[in-house]
Amino acid sequence: MNGSVLPLDYAETADRDEFRRAVIAGLSARPRAIPAKFLYDARGSALFDEICELPEYYLTRTETMILSQRAGEIGRRAGPGCALVEFGSGSSVKSRLLIEALPDLALYAPIDISRAHLDATAARLRRDYPWLQVLPVCADFMGPVPPIVHDGRLLGFFPGSTIGNLEPPEATAFLRHARRLLGNDGALVLGVDLRKDPQRLHDAYNDKAGVTAAFTLNLLRRMNRELHATFDLSGFAHEASYNPVDGRIEIYFRSLRDQSVTVAGQRFDFAAGERVHTEYSYKYDTSGIAALAKSGGFRIAETWTDPDRLFAVTYLEAA
Ligand code: AVI
Repeated sequence: MNGSVLPLDYAETADRDEFRRAVIAGLSARPRAIPAKFLYDARGSALFDEICELPEYYLTRTETMILSQRAGEIGRRAGPGCALVEFGSGSSVKSRLLIEALPDLALYAPIDISRAHLDATAARLRRDYPWLQVLPVCADFMGPVPPIVHDGRLLGFFPGSTIGNLEPPEATAFLRHARRLLGNDGALVLGVDLRKDPQRLHDAYNDKAGVTAAFTLNLLRRMNRELHATFDLSGFAHEASYNPVDGRIEIYFRSLRDQSVTVAGQRFDFAAGERVHTEYSYKYDTSGIAALAKSGGFRIAETWTDPDRLFAVTYLEAA
């Protein structure tokens, strides 16, 4: 039965044409910016998995610890027979904690933009949980997603503080979208990185091994490969800094000299020091999380954090 469930492909938004249009528009605009979702081609997704293992990147470790301690409580709150819907599932490592704790879990639907990642993950999960129906959905989780048909509660899962990569109005739009998909009886387990010592935040996005830099610069490689661009990777650098006023990490690639690059047949000039924005990573405090949840049509039923208050896992119920 599991093997007969075909992956649903809603990834038109991730195709090469959209990438080309977004890059041309983003490099033509001032300030220049390319949407963060394009960081996640197969190599970008693999590099992000490496980031999660870095000593400086406390987010994954801390969230995993909270989830492993609280999975039983989450299972009791969700109740038996629910379906788990993960938004931006990546390699679904953390979802295993919930899959194993949710009583009589009927279905797991991972939604992810990376087809390669999704297929590999679904195959591994079917092997490890032969009793579980796995329904991979290849889609941008911000866009249209087919209704998940299930006779029981839908429990959403949005871990990793991916919500932090959305600007606040987009984060609200995502929560409303999730709220509609999950229905009136739905709930959402949401992982959020908390505001903290700026140095700690800075280090998490400027690791000594240079994996985060490789992740940012992989976007240039992707443009070279998919859009016949001529970026010389040694002429650009990763830049990440914490903006305490807006409570966010801001990430760019910066041109190290005056240079011209061709992308999909168009020429773009970069002055030395000029930056192209690639990501924000917003950090929240508890009142910010509550306001965000409310704006998205949820209420906080429970918040769990670690002893150092680095990260929060919240259980949101449809309001
Ligand atoms: C996926 N997301 C939550 C990561 C973050 O921390 O904002 C993406 C990332 N970018 C660089 N390092 C990690």
